[in-house]
Amino acid sequence: MLMLGIETSCDETGVALVQANGPTPQLVAHALHSQIAAHVPYGGVVPELASRDHIRRLVPLTQQVLAQAGVAPAEVGAVAVTAGPGLAGALLVGTGFATGLAQAWGVPLMAVHHLEGHLLSPFIGQPALTFPFLALLVSGGHTQLMAVHGVGRYALLGQTIDDAAGEAFDKSAKLLGLPYPGGPALAKMAQQGNARAFDLPRPLLQHPNLDFSFAGLKTAVATRRRAMGDQPPAQALADLAASTQAAIVDVLMQKSRRALQQTQLPTMVVAGGVGANAALREALNAMAFEQKVSIHYPDLAWCTDNGAMIAWAAAMRWQAGLANLGPARGLTVQPRWALAGAELA
Ligand code: KG4
Ligand code: ZN
Repeated sequence: MLMLGIETSCDETGVALVQANGPTPQLVAHALHSQIAAHVPYGGVVPELASRDHIRRLVPLTQQVLAQAGVAPAEVGAVAVTAGPGLAGALLVGTGFATGLAQAWGVPLMAVHHLEGHLLSPFIGQPALTFPFLALLVSGGHTQLMAVHGVGRYALLGQTIDDAAGEAFDKSAKLLGLPYPGGPALAKMAQQGNARAFDLPRPLLQHPNLDFSFAGLKTAVATRRRAMGDQPPAQALADLAASTQAAIVDVLMQKSRRALQQTQLPTMVVAGGVGANAALREALNAMAFEQKVSIHYPDLAWCTDNGAMIAWAAAMRWQAGLANLGPARGLTVQPRWALAGAELA
């Protein structure tokens, strides 16, 4: 059973082939086009540009993946596509294309939840990973702690009440004059800075729940940046970058520790773009060691959006008997879509 996976929910076009037969899925081929360069001049993702670029990339990327794998269209058993959450127009391009392919090839079409793709991405190439685990999902749009008991069995433990962790990185980076996407740029600048130089807020840390709040941090960064005047020394900016990163990392780490203590889950996984952050990994590794839990990260390539995680999630659903492989009648996109309790077609 070869699954073709398609991802177009935001600013990356991803296509991948996963073999779902056998004890664990196998990644056969994948291709990715990142639109970052197209959005840099605007300081963020422009939805209309994103949709148009997905249209241009989908056919060549799909041809590339099939050629790389040496697979003929007739060998593909199903088409899986991100149906949400994400940008409505971008999702429509992916689901429209996937529906067309599935109809032309006469194979079933599967809707995949983008966050389920992230959540299951640590399994790619890591057959030793097993359920249950605590998942910290940290992307540009989401910050959630979930108890994951199996495919499709997700319990939301806590989430951000305002900005996502990735958004906190991106907005703070913008205030520091760094280009989009701010996360990696801020992390790089932070390497030159002193993380203790600025005492920035760590909201909700004293609350016993597992929710997050990052909107206040952005305001605090803006205030500190303004106080530096028009021509701040590079060192001051680096110190503020390091202190910002430390505040975000500290909150994510401490809430993760609390979640592990409350749930007694033996394993933790970290998924989503912010999971690529080296300082976060260092803090979580130390915490996991102290809590005696094992911790897993997807390969860096699978942290940010990609097609492999979508094909993989579809393959795991299919293996778990949860895939509703109906005829390709077209899909409704769901720009806003909660994962816990999500009904997947
Ligand atoms: O998962 P993702 O690719 O897209 C969403 O589904 O949102 O995550 C993108 C987010 C962006 O906010 C980006 O700035 C952040 O992940 N990010 C990072 C790093 N790499 C990506 N944030 C901090 N440090 C990084 N190294
Ligand atoms: Zn994502």
